[in-house]
Amino acid sequence: MEMNAKSDKQTADQTIFTSNQHPPGAIEHSAAVKRAAFGADFAWGVSTAAYQIEGAHDIEGKGASIWDVFSGKKGKVKLNHNGNFACDFFNRYPDDLELMQSLSIPNFRFSLSWPRLLPDGHGRANQAGIDYYNRLIDHCLELGITPWVTLYHWDLPYELEKKGGWANRDIVGWFQEYAALCAKHYGDRVKHWMVLNEPMVFTGAGYFLGVHAPGRIGFKGFVPAVHHATLCQAEGGRVLRDLLPGAEIGTTFSCSHVEPYRPQEKDIKAAIRVDALLNRLFIEPSLGLGYPLQDLKFMRRIEKYILAGDEDKVKFDFDFIGIQNYTREVVKHSFWTPFVQANLVPPKKRGVPQTQMNWEVYPQGIYHILHKYNQYKGIKKLIVTENGAAFADQLLDGEVHDTNRVDFLQRYLHQVLRAKQEGVKVQGYFVWSFVDNFEWAEGYHPRFGLVYIDYETQQRTIKDSGHWYRDFLEGKQKF
Ligand code: FCB
Repeated sequence: MEMNAKSDKQTADQTIFTSNQHPPGAIEHSAAVKRAAFGADFAWGVSTAAYQIEGAHDIEGKGASIWDVFSGKKGKVKLNHNGNFACDFFNRYPDDLELMQSLSIPNFRFSLSWPRLLPDGHGRANQAGIDYYNRLIDHCLELGITPWVTLYHWDLPYELEKKGGWANRDIVGWFQEYAALCAKHYGDRVKHWMVLNEPMVFTGAGYFLGVHAPGRIGFKGFVPAVHHATLCQAEGGRVLRDLLPGAEIGTTFSCSHVEPYRPQEKDIKAAIRVDALLNRLFIEPSLGLGYPLQDLKFMRRIEKYILAGDEDKVKFDFDFIGIQNYTREVVKHSFWTPFVQANLVPPKKRGVPQTQMNWEVYPQGIYHILHKYNQYKGIKKLIVTENGAAFADQLLDGEVHDTNRVDFLQRYLHQVLRAKQEGVKVQGYFVWSFVDNFEWAEGYHPRFGLVYIDYETQQRTIKDSGHWYRDFLEGKQKF
């Protein structure tokens, strides 16, 4: 594993932390990358998630989600923003899909809202919710846009959270029921599925740190939530495959290339732990490798939740793995940080460029992470299901000149192509995000879209990056 590399194997990338300089190759990128270089069968698209764009939080029979409840509590989300109205995509999807089509975007990744379909999480289905996604999917297909559907992008029905949510093993049954309902209603038209969105984030931020919904803190809920999410990841895959034998079934992971701050034993070991936590915890059991407890001793308490037969139940042979990459993490040993005994060294401290999220701009990170996942024997195919950047966009005279985002996307794409040309099985790339949207605990402030949203008027303005993506997809970019 990369993280074990000692100084003799150290790359240029790893040495930069002592010098506070930008890594070579990070700033300049060679001639603009062209779509054709990725091959005709490479899937291009944009990504979104239900809670971040739909709004319509309480209409047409939708049940509350943990995000409705969490964002309704004071001080949980910046400026007390919430997703009640968001981009009003629930009502505006026909126009938004036409906008997408006008940008020549062939694939659209979106998620289904579990509480819109099953207001109580299980049992009674909401016909209006079922009809809504039927209309959305049909409209995509009418416009020649292929739907890529995520089953779970963090908006757990609140009724299930009341019963323990991800920390309750019953969620396996609830999730199977939900997955089967989605397969039954949409499987005739949806051929690309993703089971979970970033389990490390929704368990870690939601059940351990408490900064995301449902806002729980500590190991008590987190550790069982990890195991139950790992079980659901596989069970969801099995339900979809049984009911939809022809479908392509994947799941997605947040992943960041991790490096030690200094080339010292302690930092290198800290980086190994952080890498195991951020990048290996959910993929390895699904591949039959078990949890990486050797490198993550404090997670051994998970064994208590592993029942006989679970080693097999967590396995699933996914058709593709969704890689969601934004940045890299640089890690320093910290005696005082409980359990993981490591701290992330923020980009500001390292004097490197960052986005509005304070995430380092580090294009080589996506190259390294693609290589890392490519090394796992059981992975058949990788798709970058999210990549993008938030910048402080300005709408001036009906235009948004987000050259920084264009530059970001081009440089990351360049690294994706580099990995592909070296034999990495990467077969798709989705920009996060189509439109600006509700960025979880950060509210509406960070803008990730190719399309700018004026939240007062709900007016859409295609940013320069949107025009760039269209030109790129049409094979005629001028950059
Ligand atoms: C990912 C999430 C997505 C979005 C981006 C910026 O972690 O999957 O919903 O918030 O980050």
